[in-house]
Amino acid sequence: MSEFFITTPIYYVNDVPHLGHAYTMVSADALARWHRLAGDEVFFLTGTDEHGLKISQAAAENNMSPKEWTDQLSPRFQNAWQKLNISYDDFIRTTEKRHYVTVQSFLQSIYDNGFIYKDKYVGLYCVSCEAYYQESELIDGNCPIHNRPATLMEEDNYFFKLSAFQERLLDWYEVAPEAVRPATKRNEALGFIRQGLQDISITRTSIDWGVPVPWDDKHVFYVWYDALVNYLTAIDFGRDQSKFEKWWPHVHHLIGKDIIRFHCIWWPAMCMAAGIEPPANIFAHGWLLVGGEKMAKSAGNKVDPIELADEFGLDAVRYYLLRDTVFGSDGDFTYEALTSRYNSDLANNLGNLLQRVTTVVATKLDGKAPSPVLDSKLGQFAMVAVNKAVDSWNQIAPQDALEAIWSMIHETNAVLEDVAPWKLEPGEELRNVLGDALEVLRLVCILSYPVMPEATSRVWGRIGLPGSPSDGGSLDVLSWGRYRAESIIEKGSPLFPRRKFS
Ligand code: ME8
Ligand code: MG
Repeated sequence: MSEFFITTPIYYVNDVPHLGHAYTMVSADALARWHRLAGDEVFFLTGTDEHGLKISQAAAENNMSPKEWTDQLSPRFQNAWQKLNISYDDFIRTTEKRHYVTVQSFLQSIYDNGFIYKDKYVGLYCVSCEAYYQESELIDGNCPIHNRPATLMEEDNYFFKLSAFQERLLDWYEVAPEAVRPATKRNEALGFIRQGLQDISITRTSIDWGVPVPWDDKHVFYVWYDALVNYLTAIDFGRDQSKFEKWWPHVHHLIGKDIIRFHCIWWPAMCMAAGIEPPANIFAHGWLLVGGEKMAKSAGNKVDPIELADEFGLDAVRYYLLRDTVFGSDGDFTYEALTSRYNSDLANNLGNLLQRVTTVVATKLDGKAPSPVLDSKLGQFAMVAVNKAVDSWNQIAPQDALEAIWSMIHETNAVLEDVAPWKLEPGEELRNVLGDALEVLRLVCILSYPVMPEATSRVWGRIGLPGSPSDGGSLDVLSWGRYRAESIIEKGSPLFPRRKFS
């Protein structure tokens, strides 16, 4: 058993979450559930990012104080995640006291270590990113990510000596080649570093909606410098050394590719400056697109994940999000692709397999499930697929895991077509083929539980097994031949009724 600490970005609370945020959350949830299932001790962290200019502007537009505004908005994220069955262990709000304490002590140690100094700053600022840009990075004066004008800002600032970390960052990328994944995103980050790093302004005097700088209370920390520290707040950095030491070496930051620069350059450098190890694992996934454009608050192409789940069933949406896109690449969202995944993979393959097997067991064997055959051909096929799925889960490749799992379903359906148990008289041949098919269903339930916790639990009950697919406590349950029904199997109604294209 080992520890697995998984984090998501903490989201700006200026709007309700859309399917793009849900994509990160479902991915993180599946990984957390996978590791719990494998017997690891898991700490799954998410939250909301509540300081900064963008939030105080939104609050003002709504005639509220920033605190009133964020108190109202943060629960919307918690409610959405509850509806999407996201099993987080801690939800951090950057306006919490514990966070102020950690931000102040973490940045104080960077200051004490000599990596923060005061200077005047003039620069071009994108409010949507909450970040300054170099003129050369803008496209026609617009932010390259939000395509909105960057505005000129001037103020007295404290600066972080990011430039002092260029070589150390390059060394770190060299000695820890797996720390930033996938390789395409690692290369992107390396490209930024090689272009040369400039010091960053990390405090503001123009706004007061932020964490006060402990050595100069006219300043508050710039929102990114506060937000990134949330990962340490939650494991009690500076407050409970043993908790910090237990979790930090096992951290996995899951992020979207829009925030690579902050997580893969600034954050590791800040950690180095404070005297702790840089984050051990960062995984940047791609964007969910609509018609080729990033789904975004400002773009008017948002899809509401809750509405989608109400329409298609939550687990079908979770399955689609993880199955349709290579994790790490961009993926286009369409209703057609979702409907077609639903019909082919869930209704025709998984649903049909369950329906066939339970029907024949109910009608020909009085609902008494037979056992699998120890050395069957299907069993050998399944063990190869199981190993592939396990490897894929461990390598943060949910799409490959699902592909391997569904290859077992395809193979089993093909064997059933071939043997046609519905035409056989009760006897050994009938019992063997059904026992094997039930064993495949048991394995499918366990391996795809992280993606479809609800649906697999229902299949689990339908094939006569007690508890839930996640009860095993280790991966030993994935060996072939363990299926034993503990109750009579009944033919139920289809789990995934076919959907018409609308
Ligand atoms: O950046 N496709 O918050 P944010 C995939 N507060 N993922 C998407 C997405 C899309 N179309 N749209 C959003 C911030 N996301 C900061 C983070 S962390 C210390 C501070 C997801 O509300 C993805 O995970 O803009 C992305 O990185 C994140 O939402 C950005 O959320
Ligand atoms: Mg954003």
